Amino acid sequence: MKRRDRTLATHAGNNPKAHKGIVNPPVYHASTILFDSVADMRAKHKDRFNTVYYGRYGTPTTFALEEAVAALEEADRAVAVPSGLGAIAGALLTFVAAGDHVLMVDTTYEPTRAFCDTQLKRFSVETTYYDPMIGAGIADLIRPNTKVVYLESPGSHTFEIQDVPAIAAAAHARGCVVVLDNTWASPLYFKPYRHGVDVVVHAATKYLVGHSDVMMGIITMREKFFTQVKTQVHGMGFAVGGDDCYLALRGIRTIGARLAQHQQTALALARWLQGRPEVHQVLHPALPDHPSHALWKRDFLGSSGLFGVVLKPASDERVAAMIDGMELFGLGFSWGGYESLMVPTNLTTARTATKWQQPGPTVRIHAGLEDPEDLIEDLARGLDRLRGN
Ligand SMILES: Cc1ncc(COP(=O)(O)O)c(C=O)c1O
Repeated sequence: MKRRDRTLATHAGNNPKAHKGIVNPPVYHASTILFDSVADMRAKHKDRFNTVYYGRYGTPTTFALEEAVAALEEADRAVAVPSGLGAIAGALLTFVAAGDHVLMVDTTYEPTRAFCDTQLKRFSVETTYYDPMIGAGIADLIRPNTKVVYLESPGSHTFEIQDVPAIAAAAHARGCVVVLDNTWASPLYFKPYRHGVDVVVHAATKYLVGHSDVMMGIITMREKFFTQVKTQVHGMGFAVGGDDCYLALRGIRTIGARLAQHQQTALALARWLQGRPEVHQVLHPALPDHPSHALWKRDFLGSSGLFGVVLKPASDERVAAMIDGMELFGLGFSWGGYESLMVPTNLTTARTATKWQQPGPTVRIHAGLEDPEDLIEDLARGLDRLRGN
C-alpha cells in the first residue's frame, strides 16, 4: 500500500516485531562484528554494502535511518555520512576524476563552492558556476568532459528556485549526473526524483535531525548509483555513530508536524516584514512577488522556515544592534532546529557568475517553533534598534 509522507515519517525504518515489540530500533554500538565461520565471513564480504559486516559499513540502526530517508524522498537507497558537507563532497567525488568538469550553481552553499575551488581544483577537476535561473540554457555550458550538473534550490541566502526538470533534461541529454542539495525543502516539500534528479544530498543536521544536536549528512540515490556512492564514501572512511543515527531517526518521526509549523511561522514573519518600512525586500519563494514564485508553485509541495530579508540602507552598527539585542532569535550557524535564528549575510563576494545588487544589508532568518506572535514582537523591537530608537 502506498503510504503518504507523514505516515512514512512516523513509521518508515521501524520494525518493532524484530525487537521484542520495542517501537524504536535499538542503538547498536559496533566496530567488530563476529562471523560464524570463514565461509560466513567470505559470503558477507560479497554483500558488505547490504549486510552487517563491519561497524564502518553501518549497523541495523544506520540501516533503519537510511531506509526511512530513502522512503520519504522516493529514492531507492540512502547512505548516511558525518555531515552535510560530507554528503556534498562524497557525492561530487563519486562522479569526477582528474580532467573532468563540474557545472555548479552560483548560489550554492558557500562551503560547497570552497570544496570545488580548493579540493576539486587540487585534483584537476574544473568548476564553472552558472546562473541559477539558466534553465534549459545550461546545455550551452556542458562540455564533453562535464560529469556533474549540481543544483541547490532554492539558492543559498537568495532563495532562487531552479527549473530542475529543464536542467536535468539538458544534463541527461549529454550524459551528466544531476546532483541536487535538497536541504531547504527536505524530502517532504520537494521530490527531486519526480523532476529528473539522480543523486540528492542533505544536511540532515537541519530538518531531518531537527533539534540542533547532531551533525549528519545523507545522500540518496537511484539504485544504479548506490554501489558507486557507497564505494566512494566508505572508501574515504566516512561512518556515522549509532547514537547520532538514532537521534536523526527520532527527529524524522516529527518532521511532518515540525515542517508544517516552520512553514506557517516563516510565512507569518515574512508577510509581517513585507509591511515594515525598514525592509526593502523579503526573499521567500512562497511569497507571490518573489521572482521565482511560479517555479516554486509548480514543483514544490511546501516551504520551510528559512528565508532572507534585504533591509533598506543601514550601517553595520545598526544591523549589529538589531541582531545582538534579539531575545528569541539566536545568532549562530546552521538552521532547521526547533529554535529561531538570525544571521547577517554578505553576498557581495559570494557570487561569480551573477551579480548580487541590493541597496541595503541582508539577514537570514530561520523561523523556529516558538509562538509566532512572540517572534514578531521580538522582530519589532529589533527593527526599532535598527532605526536607532
Ligand atoms: C543548503 C546547505 N547544504 C549543506 C550544508 C552543510 O551541512 P553541514 O553543516 O551538516 O555540513 C548546509 C549548512 O548550513 C546548508 O545550509
